[in-house]
Amino acid sequence: MRRLVSETTLRPRQLILPMFVAEGADSPRPISSMPGVVQHSRDSLRKAAVEAVRAGVGGLMLFGVPKVHDAVGSGATDENGVLNVALRDLRAELGDDTVLMADTCLDEFTDHGHCGVLDEAGAVDNDATLERYAEMAIAQAKAGAHVLGPSGMMDGQVGVIRRALDDAGYADTGILAYSAKYASAFYGPFREAVDSQLKGDRKTYQQDPGNAREALREIELDLAEGADAIMVKPALSYLDVIKAAAELSPVPVAAYNISGEYSMIEAAAANGWLDRRRTILEVLTSIRRAGADMVLTYWAAEAATWLD
Ligand code: PBG
Repeated sequence: MRRLVSETTLRPRQLILPMFVAEGADSPRPISSMPGVVQHSRDSLRKAAVEAVRAGVGGLMLFGVPKVHDAVGSGATDENGVLNVALRDLRAELGDDTVLMADTCLDEFTDHGHCGVLDEAGAVDNDATLERYAEMAIAQAKAGAHVLGPSGMMDGQVGVIRRALDDAGYADTGILAYSAKYASAFYGPFREAVDSQLKGDRKTYQQDPGNAREALREIELDLAEGADAIMVKPALSYLDVIKAAAELSPVPVAAYNISGEYSMIEAAAANGWLDRRRTILEVLTSIRRAGADMVLTYWAAEAATWLD
């Protein structure tokens, strides 16, 4: 009876697995603040990606961890940069068996850790950053990404990337816009995951946790600029924003169940304070219930094996 009347589905195809690949790694490196998640080598990335796709996940979202960082994040646009190499590897291995996505953002590649390039005063220069995003988008599309995920919260990023892709002959490459991304303390473990160089914070470009209307404005702008899907991030402290987004969005809505949301449950479960599997499934179901069509989660591959 409960199965018959259940309102919310949770299926492997609705889950997207974020993965990290580290330049020069010859074996996977554990991320201490995210037990169970690693910085992959090229080889282990390929194997883990195949396994996740076999488990039925709907997509993969790749992040690169370069060896060298510089002011403009050169590694992001270099065709031999770690992320672009990994995209080529996975596209060759998986073809169109999954939706291959890439983080289109400079923070993993810059020596100051910001999502864009800086002006002389040290502030993020929105419009100069857009030019870098356009180049990065073309490099990623060329490397085989099906969908790009601009996560830097620069104004106009979706429109600039869309035009750059179209002009370069990548009209079929999609954009999953990180539209409503909050300046969250829950990103903490991610900063270790990508060896982030960030000293300050991202409050000048990410949103204030108290603002919900602002999220809807950001979503409307991204839709007008050509987003094929939109995202709310983080997920758990922003379920109301996911719900509001789902009510207004004519395109699919994604939610990112981020690093800190992962780590706090892993930590509690490791202490025996929570039933790990039940908690994970409850969290993912609640994000779906709020209205997310798809959920980015570090549990994607494992949870997929629990679901049908
Ligand atoms: C920025 C980016 C971040 C995450 C994904 N893309 C970090 C940030 O904005 O500080 C966070 C993901 C997570 O915490 O799981 N490229």
